[in-house]
Order: sequence, then C-alpha cells, then structure tokens
Amino acid sequence: MSDGNGDGYAVRAEGLEKRYGEKRALDGFDLAVREGTVHGLLGPNGAGKTTAVRILSTLVRLDGGRATVAGLDVARRPREVRARIGLTGQYAAVDEVLTGRQNLEMFGRLFHLGGRRARLRATELLDRFDLTDAADKGVGTYSGGMRRRLDLAASMILAPAVLFLDEPTTGLDPRSRGEVWDSVRALVAGGTTVLLTTQYLEEADRLASRITVIDQGRAIADDTPDGLKNTVGGDRVEVVVADRADIPHAVKVVARVADGDPEADETELRVHAPVTDRVNALTEVARTLQDEGVAVEDIGLRRPSLDDVFLRLTGHRTEPPGARDTPTPAPQPKEVAA
Ligand SMILES: Nc1ncnc2c1ncn2[C@@H]1O[C@H](COP(=O)(O)OP(=O)(O)OP(=O)(O)O)[C@@H](O)[C@H]1O
Ligand SMILES: [Mg+2]
Repeated sequence: MSDGNGDGYAVRAEGLEKRYGEKRALDGFDLAVREGTVHGLLGPNGAGKTTAVRILSTLVRLDGGRATVAGLDVARRPREVRARIGLTGQYAAVDEVLTGRQNLEMFGRLFHLGGRRARLRATELLDRFDLTDAADKGVGTYSGGMRRRLDLAASMILAPAVLFLDEPTTGLDPRSRGEVWDSVRALVAGGTTVLLTTQYLEEADRLASRITVIDQGRAIADDTPDGLKNTVGGDRVEVVVADRADIPHAVKVVARVADGDPEADETELRVHAPVTDRVNALTEVARTLQDEGVAVEDIGLRRPSLDDVFLRLTGHRTEPPGARDTPTPAPQPKEVAA
C-alpha cells in the first residue's frame, strides 16, 4: 500500500500553523512519517496533537505551512486525501444499540460500498479484529477493548494507506490495550502507515519506530525511542528516601557519584542522577546513606524511560488520562471521509 509520492514518506508537514483566536495551536509544526511504519506523536495536554491530526486528515484547515498525505497536498486535494486515510478519534464513536456487524455494515454503506460488499467487508474485518464471536451482539455489551477494536475496524473499511489514531487506547485496561496494539501491528504488517498520538509513553515505546515530541505547537524532538532515551543519558542511580527531610542529604550523597546534577522529586521522595560506573555508584550510595543514617525505602539502577525524556524535553510528566486540566473541545465523532 505504498501510496506516497515516491519519497518514502506517507506524511510530510512543514511549518504548519493553526490559530484559534490568540491561541497558536500549531506554531511551525514539522513532521515526516515513513511509509509502512508506526510514528508516535507525543506531547502534553494541549500541545497540538489532535489539531495536527485533524489538519492532516483534512477536517480542519491550516492557516500556514504545507502538508502532504500519501503524496497529496491536504489543502489542495482534500477529497483525494480522504479516500486514502482512516481516522479514529480520541473517543470511540460506534453505535451502542447496533451490533458490531451492523455498525461495520453501516460504515460500509456510508462509504458507498453497496450492500453485498459492505457485508463482505464487515465479515472480513470482524475476523481480522477477532470480533467474530461477538459480531451479532449489541455493542452496548462489549468491553472497552472490543469497542476500540470495532472502532479500528470501522476506520479500516476502505483499507487506508494512512491511518490516524488519536489516543486509541486511552481509558482501556492493560489487557485491552495489548489487544489494540496487536491489531495495530497487524495493520502495519499489511502495509498501512500509522500516525499515533498517545498519553502512554510505553505505548509509543512498544509500537512506534520513530517519535516526534510536540510542545506548544512545535516539534521539539524527533528520533527513534532509543535515540530519545540516549539524549537523556545512560543509566541512573535512584534513591527513594523514607523521610522528606532527608532529600537534601540524599542529593548530596548521590551528587558525589553522579555524572550530572541529581534531580529530586519532592512528591515521590525520589532522588536520581546519571552515572557511568553503575555498580560502583550504587554500592557507594547505598553504603554512604547507611553510614550517615539516612533511611531508604528503595535504591536501584534504572535505564532512562521515555518518561524521563518527556520530562526533560517538556518539563511535564504525562498526566494520567482523565486528569486533564482543560476539557477537550467537543467529543470528536467518528469522522467519515466523505
Ligand atoms: N476548536 C478549538 N477552538 C479553540 N481552541 C482550540 C480548539 N481546538 C484546540 N484548541 C486549543 O489548541 C491547543 C491545542 O489543542 P489540541 O487539542 O490539538 O491538543 P492535544 O495535544 O490534542 O491535547 P490533549 O492531550 O488534551 O488531547 C489547546 O490549547 C486547545 O485548547
Ligand atoms: Mg488531543
């Protein structure tokens, strides 16, 4: 399904701008997504992820810059772009009353497939997303994971070259999340390119071969997950103290063996810093803290996670889904390419 313009990129954006009144939702945003890959788009709440996805999927007009999807300019050839993409919004939007099969047949008809082809396609997709057993039950009885898989299936009716997934697993339990991940992997194995926004750094780490970090409407980093972690440094020694008052003391002890300034997390009572000679650093810190009578809850070595990268780049931890500071604008319905 390589459907680009021959340059190997399924999505390209240069200097995208989008303003809502005074607010610059996108402020010179760049992106390049290789064909046949999962590309992660990570950023704190309000960073511009959904806006970028909506522009690339032609639902929102850009104010500046240029973007192509499957080799087609989104501003000049939106209809052709729409024929090549699928989109799953931040909220699942399948009909609760209909069965899984009826939902998919309905989407098929919306895409002008005709009754027979819509039925065939529905059966195929139910099988592909492991929903055959539940196909004739009302969606109201589905688990969260089944619902998202149905949502994914609906966005795959036309076997799109490029699929935009905006937080496809937010609110799902770990098992359902794993099921959605498997489905995404299967799609990509079949040639689809996926642009994925997510609140879960682990999700980006597991699925994406490349990640763009967006903050305040701009791309502030773009690399492989490992490349991003390397920018934060190698191993870290980490101490959790029992008593908040001991944090400054622990910082001093850790600083003696560290390669850079220790960071302290006052809420989690955690002090950590990059180290090179990992085992020596660990024993040294453990011994000194004990000698100096600092009570320790936990101590260990840790490789940097995408969380560390995210914190370093944006100054935020990702917020647990549900704890958003601004309500998202209107729920995004399943957007159907007309
Ligand atoms: N329709 C709109 N009208 C006004 N402001 C908007 C609109 N859509 C988005 N914004 C603003 O633009 C900025 C970017 O929003 P966007 O939804 O793209 O962020 P996001 O990265 O998807 O955030 P989240 O993680 O919460 O989904 C935010 O400040 C948001 O409040
Ligand atoms: Mg969003």
